[in-house]
Amino acid sequence: MKSRAAVVVLLFLVSEATPQELWSKCGQRAFAEVLDSGDFDQSGGQDAAPGQWPWYGSVFHYRTDRSIAFACGGTLISRNHVLTVAVCVMDGAGSLLGSGAIMVRLGTHLQNVLHFGNARYRRVKSVHLPKDGEIAILKLTEDVKFNKYVLSICMMVQPFDDQNAKLLVGWGVNGDVNQLGSYLGDDTCYFSSDRASIGVALLMGGWFLQYFTHCSGEMITLERYESWIAKTTNLIYLQKLRSGQDFNSSHQYPQLLPRRHCGKGLIDGEKSTPNATLYEFPWIAKLFNRALGYNCLGTLISHRYVLTSENCINFYFIPDLIVLGEYDNFQEPDCQLDDPTDCAPPLRLYEVDYVVRNHNDYRIDLIRTTENVAFEDHIQPVCLPLTSQLKHFHPSDQTIAGWNKNSKNTTGIIQKETVYAASSAECQISEEYLPKNILCYKTSSNNVANRTYSGGPVGAIVPSSGRRFVQLALVIGPVERCVVALDIVPYIDWIRANMVE
Ligand SMILES: *[C@@H]1O[C@H](CO)[C@@H](O)[C@H](O)[C@H]1NC(C)=O
Ligand SMILES: *[C@@H]1O[C@H](CO)[C@@H](O)[C@H](O)[C@H]1NC(C)=O
Ligand SMILES: *[C@@H]1O[C@H](CO)[C@@H](O)[C@H](O)[C@H]1NC(C)=O
Ligand SMILES: *[C@@H]1O[C@H](CO)[C@@H](O)[C@H](O)[C@H]1NC(C)=O
Repeated sequence: MKSRAAVVVLLFLVSEATPQELWSKCGQRAFAEVLDSGDFDQSGGQDAAPGQWPWYGSVFHYRTDRSIAFACGGTLISRNHVLTVAVCVMDGAGSLLGSGAIMVRLGTHLQNVLHFGNARYRRVKSVHLPKDGEIAILKLTEDVKFNKYVLSICMMVQPFDDQNAKLLVGWGVNGDVNQLGSYLGDDTCYFSSDRASIGVALLMGGWFLQYFTHCSGEMITLERYESWIAKTTNLIYLQKLRSGQDFNSSHQYPQLLPRRHCGKGLIDGEKSTPNATLYEFPWIAKLFNRALGYNCLGTLISHRYVLTSENCINFYFIPDLIVLGEYDNFQEPDCQLDDPTDCAPPLRLYEVDYVVRNHNDYRIDLIRTTENVAFEDHIQPVCLPLTSQLKHFHPSDQTIAGWNKNSKNTTGIIQKETVYAASSAECQISEEYLPKNILCYKTSSNNVANRTYSGGPVGAIVPSSGRRFVQLALVIGPVERCVVALDIVPYIDWIRANMVE
């Protein structure tokens, strides 16, 4: 668990996407000090502080005299959906209650203290149960207005390995049914109230996720309800983020990665830096979200897929457009620096169909476009190290490329620089914080933090077989004067296993 926590810290530090009001989306607390108190450091039951679990609420049933009785816990998963367990929407005899018999309260951590200013009360418009399901979703009559005590959690419906820190959250920690609290561990019946449904939150890269809910003795995993929850709630990230398949060595996968027709950029004979030349990096893609702009890069690896780093995509930032063929942000069309009449075709926009995530270690994402990308002079796929020769190709000098950030006073042209394979000590990163498959590269400039390289390639020209550019690693982000990057070689099989025609 210790090393897992370290991984999370590293990826969180280097993550570039810091859109404002992140907390108003999902899984982000409004109070940093609550987060800092270290949910995962303390074992045993912890009473909740105000705002610590802003997505956790209570489900009440109306009695015949219209007073209310606490029934269960529930979590706010969108502005108007509460997830709870199926027994929570049934009466004592096991019959389904009508939506009019149920009420939800959010924004309080003590049942018997009413926080009129912060609490949100909502009636239920409809109750949704999957076929033979153990969970239920309550659609509220009216959207919940978020405040610092009422926010939604991210739904994580993919399986997790046991190394992830798990926190149970629910009513009745430490024996007091009126008290919200958390418990570090797997013991779902730690909580005294056996009618409490318990959400489980865990921190990955700073996001709280719920991946199962419970109780009366057994755990309910949400995995098998993924598509049902996606349909019932319209949560965009559930529709757009998919979990990848493991590689199966006895399965025949189609050959969708180019072996020879790839890595064909214009090779810059003069090695001018930092300005790249037109057509030098025609595989570099910008991941664009129509509402939020662009935060990261990716590389085109085939007619249909762009590869990027996991820290570039999250519940809040899901790219909906891939920008290809960009060279100078400020010019359209892009022309040769020394010949303004020699110009590239215009940049092209491709819609994102969905994103496949690697749920084994959360390092790499594949983005599928809705239509085939046409290869043109300024849009070409990169080569990946598919052959055993390329898998052992480790030149000490490699190249990264990306654009200046806040480039008002600087050039909008793709900037490249040479990076050198380095030890973690040379990059002043403690070995223990460096997870498996993560590589460090030193740079000679101090510009890494001023440029967007994340999600883009680290690669080199293979001298043999036609001087092609091969991507050997994937930039995660800058750390001081270094970049940390993911070695691509161990992920080639996963990539192949998750590409379809
Ligand atoms: C692996 O692929 C083979 C052949 O397609 C298939 O029969 C087998 O069930 C697969 N194994 C797993 C674990 O999916
Ligand atoms: C890079 O291109 C910009 C814009 O064309 C130009 O102003 C700048 O001088 C170039 N930098 C170098 C080192 O050539
Ligand atoms: C941009 O350059 C101008 C003049 O060179 C300078 O006055 C201004 O402060 C610069 N802006 C930024 C954001 O660096
Ligand atoms: C890049 O950022 C660093 C630190 O933020 C700064 O010291 C350096 O001058 C910047 N470089 C350029 C070219 O703006």
